[in-house]
Amino acid sequence: MESECIAVLPLAQLPPGTMAYVEVDGLPIALANDGGTVLAFSDVCRHEGGSLASGALIDGTVTCPWHGWTYDIRSGKSLVPPIGLRIPTYPVTVVDAMIHVTVSWPVTE
Ligand code: FES
Repeated sequence: MESECIAVLPLAQLPPGTMAYVEVDGLPIALANDGGTVLAFSDVCRHEGGSLASGALIDGTVTCPWHGWTYDIRSGKSLVPPIGLRIPTYPVTVVDAMIHVTVSWPVTE
């Protein structure tokens, strides 16, 4: 398996409580600043593909703007039925005030 650590966004552009959409080699990724901790996960909802970066970030969860499926943004696990589905999550590092995301290929779910 191959992995890449990619600079994606200045930390200053992701204040606490906000989310942002980025792409890494065409892979859609949502970034969230959850009370000062930056997390990265797939932007694509497992239901019908809604953009999670456009959803609601509340207490470590993201709720899809289309039909309300909700995920734990640390584990990626769905918190509403069907429980147990998950979205991919990605390691994040902040270096020199720049957010970096590590993506492994091939992507596994
Ligand atoms: S597409 Fe996300 S809840 Fe339907």
